Amino acid sequence: MIELATLLSALRERFAAAVEAAADERALDEVRVAYLGRNGEVTTIRRSIGKLPPERRPGAGKEINDAVAVMEALLQERHAQLEARDVEASLEQRIDVTFLGTPPQFGSLHPVRRVIEDACGYFERHGFAVVLGPEVEPDYYNFDALNIPPEHPAREGFDSFWVNDSLLLRPHTSPMQIRTMQLHPPPVAIVAPGRCYRRDAVDARHLFQFHQIEGLLVASGVHFGHLKGMLTGLCRTLFGAYQQVRFRPSFFPFTEPSAEVDTTCPKCGGRASACSMCGGSGWIELGGAGMVHPNVLREVGYDPEVVSGWAFGFGAERLALVRYDVDDVRRFVDGDPDFFEQLA
Ligand code: PHE
Repeated sequence: MIELATLLSALRERFAAAVEAAADERALDEVRVAYLGRNGEVTTIRRSIGKLPPERRPGAGKEINDAVAVMEALLQERHAQLEARDVEASLEQRIDVTFLGTPPQFGSLHPVRRVIEDACGYFERHGFAVVLGPEVEPDYYNFDALNIPPEHPAREGFDSFWVNDSLLLRPHTSPMQIRTMQLHPPPVAIVAPGRCYRRDAVDARHLFQFHQIEGLLVASGVHFGHLKGMLTGLCRTLFGAYQQVRFRPSFFPFTEPSAEVDTTCPKCGGRASACSMCGGSGWIELGGAGMVHPNVLREVGYDPEVVSGWAFGFGAERLALVRYDVDDVRRFVDGDPDFFEQLA
């Protein structure tokens, strides 16, 4: 049986090399068919057993079966190898849900909103209520009730967007003084933040849509010192303990006396003569304030002999400029994520 043994071992070697070379399942199957298939090489060898003397046939059969068993084991092994490789490759293409992803970008509150919330928080801690009102208002609330009759030149100062003859987008939050006092008998203590609109050309200091925070306190015995104290407290809360506040005499039809309120320039601290932010004055204007005019108190049914009050209206964008040391209000509305990220 020397020949058969040699034949089988040569066959096994060739088979092993072919199996090793099979690059995928299809190639492997072709090798299987060529060697172990119905018309494969092993079958040819089996057929030749018939030519042997009968006593040697069983031995030869066993030798062939052993060789086939070895070959089948090789096939199995290669099959397992290829399969593992395919699984690996497909895993590489799959999404690994356990892998740490790109962290989502969370936004933050808009700086103007933050300043509004902090200012309101300050007043709430002092017992004031926060109230909101309409942005489209009749001229009665915007002007008449605020001691600005039709044809009064002060109307010119509020360059307004009119919806029709008597309705306009409010150019200030002062209508909320009237709405509050008409709804509640004194004492009242409110702040009213919200959007306002004016037909202003947009520049570093002006937007046609902006925000104001209105404040109103009416009770018996209220005087200008209370106003100064509260607004100085507000600026120190928002901007820091050493912030200075200045009250300049001014005019508003709905307050008497009236003042314009300034605070220390955040850029130069009031020390530079050529500051780009305050123009060298050292002060930034925040808004107007004053003692509520007796005509306004009378309009809402309050008795100016019994109660007195103060009011103020600050620009929220102005507060944000000072707080975040930004020298152009347009930055607050042009939506540049890099800008907001710095302030977050
Ligand atoms: N409403 C005024 C303005 O917009 C500001 C102001 C409010 C002045 C309250 C005095 C009292 O210019």
